[in-house]
Amino acid sequence: MYKYDEIDQRLVDDRVAQFRDQVKRRIADDLSEEEFRPLRLQNGLYLQRHAYMLRVAIPYGLFNSAQMRVLGHIAKKYDRGYGHFTTRQNIQYNWLNLEDTPEILAELAKVQMHAIQTSGNCIRNITSDPFAGVAGDEVVDPRAVCELLRQWSTLHPEFAYLPRKFKIAVSASAEDRAIVAAHDVGLYLHKNNQGQLLADVLVGGGMGRTPILGVIIKRDLPWQELPNYLSAVLRVYNRFGRRDNMYKARIKILVKALGAEEFARQVESEYEHWVGGNSTFTETEWQRVAKHFTKPAYKQATSLQAEQVAQLADATDQKAFARWLERNVKSHQVSGYASVVLSLKPHGTVAPGDVTTEQMLAIADLADKYSFGEIRATHEQNLVLADVEQAQLYSLWKDAKTQGLVLPNIGYLTDIIACPGGDFCSLANAKSIPIANEIQKRFDDLDYLHDLGDISLNISGCMNSCGHHHVGNIGILGVDKDGQEWYQVTLGGDQGNNASIGKVIGPSFFAEDMPDVISKVIDVFVEKREPEEKFIDAVRRLGITPFKERVYQDRPNRKAADEVSHG
Ligand code: HEM
Ligand code: SF4
Repeated sequence: MYKYDEIDQRLVDDRVAQFRDQVKRRIADDLSEEEFRPLRLQNGLYLQRHAYMLRVAIPYGLFNSAQMRVLGHIAKKYDRGYGHFTTRQNIQYNWLNLEDTPEILAELAKVQMHAIQTSGNCIRNITSDPFAGVAGDEVVDPRAVCELLRQWSTLHPEFAYLPRKFKIAVSASAEDRAIVAAHDVGLYLHKNNQGQLLADVLVGGGMGRTPILGVIIKRDLPWQELPNYLSAVLRVYNRFGRRDNMYKARIKILVKALGAEEFARQVESEYEHWVGGNSTFTETEWQRVAKHFTKPAYKQATSLQAEQVAQLADATDQKAFARWLERNVKSHQVSGYASVVLSLKPHGTVAPGDVTTEQMLAIADLADKYSFGEIRATHEQNLVLADVEQAQLYSLWKDAKTQGLVLPNIGYLTDIIACPGGDFCSLANAKSIPIANEIQKRFDDLDYLHDLGDISLNISGCMNSCGHHHVGNIGILGVDKDGQEWYQVTLGGDQGNNASIGKVIGPSFFAEDMPDVISKVIDVFVEKREPEEKFIDAVRRLGITPFKERVYQDRPNRKAADEVSHG
């Protein structure tokens, strides 16, 4: 894992000292809230519904046990004993006091963590595949590129005040696990026949109120040229992006307005001034960074067949353990090893992605004991221990079970992605967490979930789409009509290589109707499904009409939101 050098350390330490002074001045009222706002946002501090919320960066979702312990300690000492892992592979605290925030940043800085560029109109945390460096289908390891881009984009003076936030995702495997096309810039890394590392560059994706999937505007860009080409993209965006209307300020709107071809042409003409310039990544830079991403000291372990691993369990645990192996354990590049997903989605009890201090400390111990001290955050709001010896899987399962982290529901309907919604977020139209919990309770039967197979269900509390509802096979969006909370349902969204944006099925529903609505959608799937067909494939084959007909057929005996609104 990358280790900050003295330059990084000085940067975060200086920032803590600066922020401490800013907070002091705010508390003394020497700074008004208006003056303080941009300063706190540069340090990931939002003022939310009940308290201050701090978003801490986890670069490309990779962190270690020492950092996790500090995250757990912060949750206990300064928050209410838990933290929330987000779809951007970051962690957020929801209940902070302003006076404590400098000290929190100081504690984070000691383990090379910070909240810089987790907010504001700058280049945000770069996201990537949580299985980077270990995935069986990996083409190249993307982590060195992610880190080089992190360094390049951190405090980049020219790109600190973009028209709007800017998100970059990197994928380098056969299967895209980073929803690359839903980002302002997405990179697909690959190698040519000569072994040269290249990038295909996508531009103009994003969710929010105008969901758009990005398109490739440059193929086979040599990795050394990434800062030059991305600078050209950002320059065109900086110059022509809409600063007059924040709802039209994202790069996707500019790309849409110009057309991808014209946008690419403008980038190309800007790029001519940058190509081969001072910012070009060099081999020396690569070596400096890539040495941190060498393989851990794997044992010479024999690869075990699935049945052999299953037999590690005691008789009473065999069924539960086998299920967990099937859903939560992923293949690994190294023989005798596997990657494990710890589910942060216990059915119906906590917000998806929430982890208590006790769990954080336990996960840090698990990482040390089983996975070379490393942890990854996934954009589905789960955690990964990437390097577990197969022979240790049962032992890990037993340890993780004591913390409620082994629900075998990864990729199932109850592995719900949800934003904080109306419980915390001041922008929300409606709550997300209780909806997630009620659906989880309704679909609590693991046998049934197993029969249903892969289904993603994502919930956002408003159009900003922090919960990725547009790319959920089933998407739920909180809407506000006449001061009441309603929920709109979309079907057919997907992430991965076949990413797509879901379609709205019709008028919205009340919160209490939502478990029934989802049940009806699932009933149609079960009735019309072909053998072994996945939910998303069935929706694509059947279209949304049969689902829509069933859901609205004997609609709950009350008016739909749209009917209320429009008389
Ligand atoms: C509670 C405080 C939060 C606030 C005030 C907030 C605010 C926003 C806003 C205003 C947008 C729309 C930006 C635009 O399209 O221009 C947005 C998008 C987004 N946020 Fe949040 N958010 C919050 C929490 C979260 C959380 C907890 C997550 C992860 C679960 C998250 C992940 C995202 C994602 C994935 C998008 C959309 C992706 C995109 O189009 O780039 N946010 N957020
Ligand atoms: S989607 Fe809306 S409600 Fe949910 S966290 Fe984002 S801004 Fe808040």
